[in-house]
Amino acid sequence: MDAQASASELILQVEHLSMKFGGLVAIGDLSFQARRGEITALIGPNGAGKTTVFNCITGFYKPTEGMITLNRRDGSTYLLERLPNHEIPARAKVARTFQNIRLFSGMTLLENLLVAQHNKLMKASGYTLLGLFGFPSYRQASAESIDLARHWLEKADLVDRADDPAGDLPYGAQRRLEIARAMCTGPELLCLDEPAAGLNPKESASLNALLMDIKDNTGTSILLIEHDMSVVMQISDHVVVLEYGRKISDGNPQSVRTDPRVIAAYLGVDDEEVETVLTEVGDEDVIEQLDTGPDSAHGPGNSASMMAGPISDSVEHADEGERVTVSKGASKAAQVDARATSVAGKRVAPAPAKRAPAAKPDAESSTAKAVPKKTAVKAPTAKADSASTQEAAAKPTTGKRGGRK
Ligand SMILES: Nc1ncnc2c1ncn2[C@@H]1O[C@H](COP(=O)(O)OP(=O)(O)OP(=O)(O)O)[C@@H](O)[C@H]1O
Ligand SMILES: [Mg+2]
Repeated sequence: MDAQASASELILQVEHLSMKFGGLVAIGDLSFQARRGEITALIGPNGAGKTTVFNCITGFYKPTEGMITLNRRDGSTYLLERLPNHEIPARAKVARTFQNIRLFSGMTLLENLLVAQHNKLMKASGYTLLGLFGFPSYRQASAESIDLARHWLEKADLVDRADDPAGDLPYGAQRRLEIARAMCTGPELLCLDEPAAGLNPKESASLNALLMDIKDNTGTSILLIEHDMSVVMQISDHVVVLEYGRKISDGNPQSVRTDPRVIAAYLGVDDEEVETVLTEVGDEDVIEQLDTGPDSAHGPGNSASMMAGPISDSVEHADEGERVTVSKGASKAAQVDARATSVAGKRVAPAPAKRAPAAKPDAESSTAKAVPKKTAVKAPTAKADSASTQEAAAKPTTGKRGGRK
């Protein structure tokens, strides 16, 4: 993203965000921006830290470090990490949906959307009395809420089922209802956690249409976590890619799609394919150094969000803090960088990258290496275009291959 984007163009600025759970660094020194009126996608393999980023933005977690700034249209600015979480929707105008559907399944669709407007209705009812006596101000607020609910039911193509219990809806329709419910709060930033999960192609197309409608006709900015590339590539303006809590790529969908680090980390390049690529460039040293991938002895448990592979190889509690190391070879993006740096065989000054303050310096990681253009990876599943290749080539490695602190 253009670093010169002014604050008024940016709805969200995430700066040096870190979130640690004991010894596990779920997010490490993450910075990115989302522009007003755009769809920004946050992608990455399972366990990369995407939902944790959402939980920090929406106040479910208080970040260990970092700053999250939300700029509203009226010029007011909120530091989300400092706002009490119940004030984030009301004052900062941030709404979200969850990775697992959370509707009131026994209530009708209309009732679900009215519950979302509870704050407004409670205020209009004078916290009960005016409502009980049917004051005109309450009746008007109530009618407006119903109109708004109907408006979003129409947009979500659900108006015919307004009086059915939400639990009776097919899965894809429940996903759209959740989005409609979030829109009833009048958000300026809408955070959607895997809205296309489990949808069939037709349902995905309806979802895309709804999101494009929101973007074009309400000006609401969207932050989207999604694994479904047909959704991400078709509707996103900007994509940020995470791997093991670190940002490995940031740009428009085309440049991200052809970034070798993303292909290696996220789009399903397996170890054999990485080795094939390395063999093609004749770098056997690196091939020998690469681990074969997840080590089940150190791997995560059974939870869906614990499927990232080897989260930690060692946890040390040294005087200066905690240290969590991802198993060697765990990071596919780092493998690509390692291959390229080895071919370069050229050392340059350490990268000026910001490190999480609690992280312990590592002798090996303190020497970053330049990646020359000519060593750009030939992606097994897609060809890197010259822009993304140069971007990948220009970036120094962050240090120890597969290591995370
Ligand atoms: N409350 C928590 N306590 C401990 N660890 C957590 C907690 N929340 C998340 N984590 C860990 O943080 C890491 C990132 O998890 P997160 O759910 O953010 O990943 P994700 O990118 O959303 O994955 P998925 O694509 O599977 O949803 C994981 O290793 C996860 O186990
Ligand atoms: Mg998640």
